[in-house]
Amino acid sequence: MIGPEEFPLFSQRFEFHSGENELYFLVKQYKEKEENWIDLTLSNPTKARLVYPSEAILHSLSKPGGIEYDPNPKGILSARETVSLYYRERGLDLLAEDLFLVSSSSEAYSYLIKLLCDPGDQLLIPSPGYPLFEFVSMMDSVDFDSYQLEEGSDWKINFSDLESKITSKTKIVFVVSPNNPTGNILSPEEFEKLKALAKKKKFAIVIDEVFIDYVEDPSLPRIDPSHSDVPIFTVNGISKILALPQMKLSWIHVSGQADWKSECKERLEIIADTYLSVGTPIQLALPELFQWRKMIQGQVQRRIQRNLQIIESQINGMRETEVAGVPGSQKDLPKIRIQNPQGGWYSILRSDLWKEEEEFCLQLLKEEKVLIHSGPMFGFTEGSGFLVLSLILENDVLEEGLNRLIRFANRYK
Ligand SMILES: Cc1ncc(COP(=O)(O)O)c(C=O)c1O
Repeated sequence: MIGPEEFPLFSQRFEFHSGENELYFLVKQYKEKEENWIDLTLSNPTKARLVYPSEAILHSLSKPGGIEYDPNPKGILSARETVSLYYRERGLDLLAEDLFLVSSSSEAYSYLIKLLCDPGDQLLIPSPGYPLFEFVSMMDSVDFDSYQLEEGSDWKINFSDLESKITSKTKIVFVVSPNNPTGNILSPEEFEKLKALAKKKKFAIVIDEVFIDYVEDPSLPRIDPSHSDVPIFTVNGISKILALPQMKLSWIHVSGQADWKSECKERLEIIADTYLSVGTPIQLALPELFQWRKMIQGQVQRRIQRNLQIIESQINGMRETEVAGVPGSQKDLPKIRIQNPQGGWYSILRSDLWKEEEEFCLQLLKEEKVLIHSGPMFGFTEGSGFLVLSLILENDVLEEGLNRLIRFANRYK
């Protein structure tokens, strides 16, 4: 190991806890040489055995224009128009001129932090929520604090907690809708309250809606971020819309009062021009790729729906089974609560059976060769007994994984 006295070159932003624990090494070992392990956390759609129109996708990437470099910081117009059309199909008026293409949602966050924050400024992120925000804030030298989503009210924003976290340094409040992993979607009432607060406290709202096409009940009322008098940035991309994360194309839509918006776009253009990170072939392919949206999303949606049914029947079935060798014991078995998401690719299970979440997950992996996320990874309070699993798994994989999890939970402790 190189000592700091020899090479005192590294930034202090790397001083965070490494994820290389016993569980990490076991997973690494299973990935290398264990066929019979089950990964209930798998959320990479390209590894979930979906059927992609592979030839057509690859063909659309081979347009002759892909060999030329003619950079446009906002992204090629035909690609932005495709994105705008996607919104029009959803009944929303988000114009190509207000869109900036980027390579990923994480990059979108990073651009927005550069646009709005100085080092030491603060972001507010939802909890429970997507762990990546913490890393993005570290990479961009800003601080973050979490605001609570309320379990008792279907994970709606706890506004008194949010308000109490706002300081003079707060520049951005992030919202994820549907949220990862709780699945709640931002209601129009919450949206109005948030906008009023943003106006009063002068922060921008960033809405990550990468899972918005995966909402269980299509009649749920949706928000419209397109014409707002407070700064709102909407982030989305094809990693979830088309289940193609490897293609690296996402976008930021800018909404806000007219004068502010034009200044904002000028600055965002400087940031985008500094990196010019989106490849030309994928931008040219976008209009064709979007034609596969319904076909790809249909498969994912069917998976999710079936998986939700499987979870329900397995967990309910558990109550009818006795703990091995102990007659009548199921009566004393702590309940497992399934919390059906409003949308997204994740499900959460809660039980007193796994109040020591990390230890439970490690033992489950050792004894049953099943990997599941422990809740605290997503900001659930330690000891509250939450586990998180992916809903885009093949149905029989999820079924077998749950079987093993229930078998293990029955004999744990
Ligand atoms: C809430 C949320 N936003 C964004 C992403 C990733 O998007 P991208 O691949 O565009 O960075 C994920 C990935 O799981 C996510 O959960």
